[in-house]
Amino acid sequence: MLLKAARIYLIVAAGAGSLSAKEPRQIHENGTAFVGALGCKSSSCHGGAGPKRSQYITWSQKDFHTKAYAVLLDSRSERIAEGLGISAAPTSARCTVCHSPLQSVAPSRLTSTAHPDEGVSCETCHGAAGGWLRGHTRTDWTYNTRVSAGMRDLRSLYVRASACAACHQNLAPELLKAGHPDLFFELDSQSVAEPKHWRDEEAWSGLREWLTGQAVALREMSWALASDPQSDEVSNARWNGLAWLCATTTSAASISSPISQPSSTPGRSDFTSMQTQADALARRASVSNWSDGSARALLLALASLDPEFSAKGTANPLLAQRAKRLVLALDRLVFALNKNAGVRPKSDAELNQLFQDVKSLDAFDPMVFAAHLQSFRAAVEKNG
Ligand code: HEC
Ligand code: HEC
Ligand code: HEC
Repeated sequence: MLLKAARIYLIVAAGAGSLSAKEPRQIHENGTAFVGALGCKSSSCHGGAGPKRSQYITWSQKDFHTKAYAVLLDSRSERIAEGLGISAAPTSARCTVCHSPLQSVAPSRLTSTAHPDEGVSCETCHGAAGGWLRGHTRTDWTYNTRVSAGMRDLRSLYVRASACAACHQNLAPELLKAGHPDLFFELDSQSVAEPKHWRDEEAWSGLREWLTGQAVALREMSWALASDPQSDEVSNARWNGLAWLCATTTSAASISSPISQPSSTPGRSDFTSMQTQADALARRASVSNWSDGSARALLLALASLDPEFSAKGTANPLLAQRAKRLVLALDRLVFALNKNAGVRPKSDAELNQLFQDVKSLDAFDPMVFAAHLQSFRAAVEKNG
């Protein structure tokens, strides 16, 4: 019964709109067997010490995803389960779909090294290894051969962002009400926070990740609202904040897959068309090129938006959500410039102030925020 529920959930998520078969699913199913994290571990494979062979060690010792199942056994999860009226979080598909995805796989497809409760493990992200385990070390196999054999193409930031967003963006409103932490997807900072077992070495790849991730988050949010329009103020304001940021960014940076400014009274067709636009932006952003000049120009454009906050006419909850998204964007732009540019913006104190301003959205004051945004811009201009 529980397994069945999980299956339905997966199929629904996979059928999201116009997306290809590759797209968001909590687990990458390709019909073959799962070998489990232990199956990837042997020291000649990914369980060794050298940088090329240490993925298992990084994951098992440092990655939060190892604990994703254990979290379901703690008292916070018990309280969330109580609030939802489900008997046990560790076996309920309402939780395991994201926290312990191998539980929804038919036992016949789990080999002896795979444990249903191993949390968010290698094959959750990379795909069931049955089809490529033996072949993927052959020297005549290229990356593309591995991908055709069923390994998920996580080098594509579009595919990667969609994989993470399947668990990190949309949460059923009942779970939020029952006390689950709110989910907020931002690929760049979450990839920095994640103890990486890979390298994104290219300069400016962070901004590509940031914009791809924001577009995928907007697509997922729009998809959820189109399938089940929420009339509550919070869901609409969150959507509006992110759509506004993406629209403002595509316009300021002249990106060829523009997002239109969101309606303040959106209906189903607005969500559907936003879903399509956001998917196009995600694909475009995943191959976008950034430079010192384009990053700085966008930073200055976004830092010059104080009139939007000081003018009257837009409801406060919308302004608060816009400000929150804006501050995150400024943060990623400053981070990228500090890492890659010759001249570094010295604006830490001003940026921290902006983070403080959006900490509690209920207490958000647009006039104060507008003034602090001006100070931030002045600091960036002084050092740029
Ligand atoms: C859509 C995917 C999804 C579902 C469904 C889900 N969670 Fe989560 N959960 C997450 C993610 C992602 C995080 C990490 C949030 C963060 O810190 O950014 C998380 C965090 C948590 C935390 C906090 C963990 C910590 O280390 O602070 C608890 C407790 C939790 N979830 C319990 C549950 C329970 C109980 C259920 C089922 C009723 C559930 N979750 C369903 C994705 C999900
Ligand atoms: C939360 C998702 C996630 C989990 C869990 C995960 N990976 Fe990865 N892995 C990635 C991403 C994203 C990349 C970067 C894209 C790439 O290089 O293919 C990556 C890259 C890799 C690479 C290529 C490294 C390089 O430098 O080229 C290997 C090998 C790998 N992972 C093995 C593993 C193994 C083994 C496990 C389990 C012990 C694991 N991964 C768990 C997401 C994940
Ligand atoms: C199958 C669902 C799933 C997928 C796919 C997934 N995560 Fe997670 N992630 C979780 C859960 C559940 C937690 C909470 C674990 C805990 O608190 O112990 C989490 C926690 C995290 C955390 C620590 C909490 C936070 O938000 O700072 C980071 C960072 C993270 N994930 C990044 C990623 C990235 C990057 C990807 C894609 C490469 C990804 N995750 C893919 C389910 C998933």
